[in-house]
Amino acid sequence: MLSLKKLFVLATSLTSIAGSPVQGKRQASSSLDAWLTSESPIALQGVLDNIGAGGAKAVGAKAGIVVASPSQNDPPYFYTWTRDAALVFKLLVDEFIAGDAALETHIADYIGAQAVIQGLDGPSGTLGDGQGLGEPKFNVDETAFTGNWGRPQRDGPPLRATAMIAYAKYLVSAGRTSTVLDLLWPLVRNDLSYTAQYWNQTGFDLWEEVNGSSFFTIAASHRALVEGSALAASIGQSCSYCDSQAPQVLCFLQSFWTGQYVNANINTNVGRTGKDANSILTSIHNFDPTVTCDDQTFQPCSSRALANHKQVTDSFRSIYSINSGIAQGQAVAVGRYSEDVYQNGNPWYLATTAAAEQLYDALYQWDKVGSITVDTVNAPFFQDLLPGTTSGIYPSDSATFTSLMAAVKSYADGFMSIVQNYTPSNGALAEQYSKADGSPLSAEDLTWSYAALLSANDRRNGNVPASWLAAGANVLPSQCLASSATGTYSSVTATSFPTGTSVPTATTTHAGTTSTSSTSCPTATAVAVMFNEIATTIYGENVFITGSIPQLGDWNTDGSSRIALSADKYSNDSNLWYVSVTFAAGTSFQYKYYRVGSDGRITWETDPNRSHTVSRTCETSEVVNDTWR
Ligand SMILES: *[C@@H]1O[C@H](CO)[C@@H](O)[C@H](O)[C@H]1NC(C)=O
Ligand SMILES: *[C@@H]1O[C@H](CO)[C@@H](O)[C@H](O)[C@H]1NC(C)=O
Ligand SMILES: *[C@@H]1O[C@H](CO)[C@@H](O)[C@H](O)[C@H]1NC(C)=O
Ligand SMILES: *[C@@H]1O[C@H](CO)[C@@H](O)[C@H](O)[C@H]1NC(C)=O
Ligand SMILES: *[C@@H]1O[C@H](CO)[C@@H](O)[C@H](O)[C@H]1NC(C)=O
Repeated sequence: MLSLKKLFVLATSLTSIAGSPVQGKRQASSSLDAWLTSESPIALQGVLDNIGAGGAKAVGAKAGIVVASPSQNDPPYFYTWTRDAALVFKLLVDEFIAGDAALETHIADYIGAQAVIQGLDGPSGTLGDGQGLGEPKFNVDETAFTGNWGRPQRDGPPLRATAMIAYAKYLVSAGRTSTVLDLLWPLVRNDLSYTAQYWNQTGFDLWEEVNGSSFFTIAASHRALVEGSALAASIGQSCSYCDSQAPQVLCFLQSFWTGQYVNANINTNVGRTGKDANSILTSIHNFDPTVTCDDQTFQPCSSRALANHKQVTDSFRSIYSINSGIAQGQAVAVGRYSEDVYQNGNPWYLATTAAAEQLYDALYQWDKVGSITVDTVNAPFFQDLLPGTTSGIYPSDSATFTSLMAAVKSYADGFMSIVQNYTPSNGALAEQYSKADGSPLSAEDLTWSYAALLSANDRRNGNVPASWLAAGANVLPSQCLASSATGTYSSVTATSFPTGTSVPTATTTHAGTTSTSSTSCPTATAVAVMFNEIATTIYGENVFITGSIPQLGDWNTDGSSRIALSADKYSNDSNLWYVSVTFAAGTSFQYKYYRVGSDGRITWETDPNRSHTVSRTCETSEVVNDTWR
């Protein structure tokens, strides 16, 4: 983790000299400091108590399984969710890398548990075609949960990939690349394959209520594909399906922006404003400490994310009694979304800490950038804090920069102070707190609440996670296209996961194989075929592939079932279009490329049809080079 002591020393010292908005805060701020110092170890213990096998409140959970909450009834949360577990372990990996060495055995247990979970057959499907990875929740003994549920949920695989990639990057830097190759990469690859294949289909949002396209899910998908590809490259692998899909995922992500805020759920009609903590959580989980205030990846300091922060937090000002009388520009209790009726619709601890965390992230970014830009999009956010703030670029040596930094720090601390006010004296964090009187409500000891408190506190102290290379991943393609690419699914059995310097032992078997081969190279059942087509196109033209088997659309050229090639490597020197499609090894088929002009007209390649037979070796990928004819 990087340190940002300088900024916070600066911001603290400013409270005594800056303008009126921050005066009188010193007492509150120092009692918040004291509370966070005592609450942080309670929160970390709260997380560990909910993780099997040794967790005091997770009795019966297998090793590495994160129980959402010990609450068995009303609400029944004694299950493990892929999303919650991934977010919790992303935090634990960051804490481990920052120096808490004792966490590594838990990380190893988590990875071993996910190898089992990935392979389970359940109501969403199986690992064979990836669909089983979209199953949202499991029993704590690592068996499938088969009751009715909002499924699939497509944020689980990319979030799990991100948690594992953070640890994998550490292993690579520690010289333990073989562990990554043998064990982590096959697990990460499954989740990346799922993400590349299914991101463009509807599913349930992180609150498990809306079947549509969720901003949080799409952003998590983009991030995982970007850093997954980089991890692959660092270990001598590749992820062509990540590379072909990531720009399209980013393109789609932009369509959630309404002009004033993010509409959290689209491709659905649930009769809500769309202002939802979903989007604030997105900004903190896609925070990259090395980039500037980029709107495309919705960085915490971006104009869009700040405008959205105001709109979302303001939506709770008038609906909770505990917020009444709190002036605009002062922090309030924050829930999921204003129309929420679950448990009568109350503020959530993790939504309130997220509102603080986004601002701590933004402070870090402005400090790095060396200026704050106020523009027409984010001006309403800043004007709440410092009335009269006008558009402009304020460099770090300007008085306005200094006042804005202090005001935002104070505002962020306000959200943490709300959490402090409504946390009982034993430090326990439930899921919600009452909108009427602030008392804890719903599931007790919510693991995610504890993890959220810890990450917000880390950011407050200037401890930030590693970059996910967002800087190189914010270029939008010229046109958003519906698309999909398939990768490789293989089941992994972690017989024992190595920590420290011990020797890894793991066996990787490809899904569906019952190979008894004792070689170190099992025959692949599925092969990702990279189709490279050199085609000189004009602006507005796109290239597609179709062919004689279902994976290639059965010669279909209908808009919705088109398989698009990507042009993101196209240049004047290399007119390359490409797409990766996965087939069973040994499959034979005919195919052809066609192009579609901006007027929708289709132009086919000339005859004859092309044909190809997929290899049947231990290689899981191959390349076909073609040139338009
Ligand atoms: C698929 O992507 C296209 C292009 O971005 C978009 O218009 C469409 O809404 C997406 N559909 C889903 C379900 O993600
Ligand atoms: C989710 O919505 C899609 C259409 O957008 C529909 O095809 C699918 O059946 C729905 N799934 C569930 C579980 O309701
Ligand atoms: C690519 O070619 C076009 C047309 O010849 C030209 O206008 C453009 O400047 C070229 N771009 C680069 C990067 O060379
Ligand atoms: C290519 O395949 C299509 C679909 O099977 C068929 O209709 C067409 O005749 C084939 N073309 C040639 C030249 O064989
Ligand atoms: C495909 O083209 C690439 C780049 O020109 C080359 O490196 C590779 O060997 C080719 N592969 C095949 C199977 O022709």
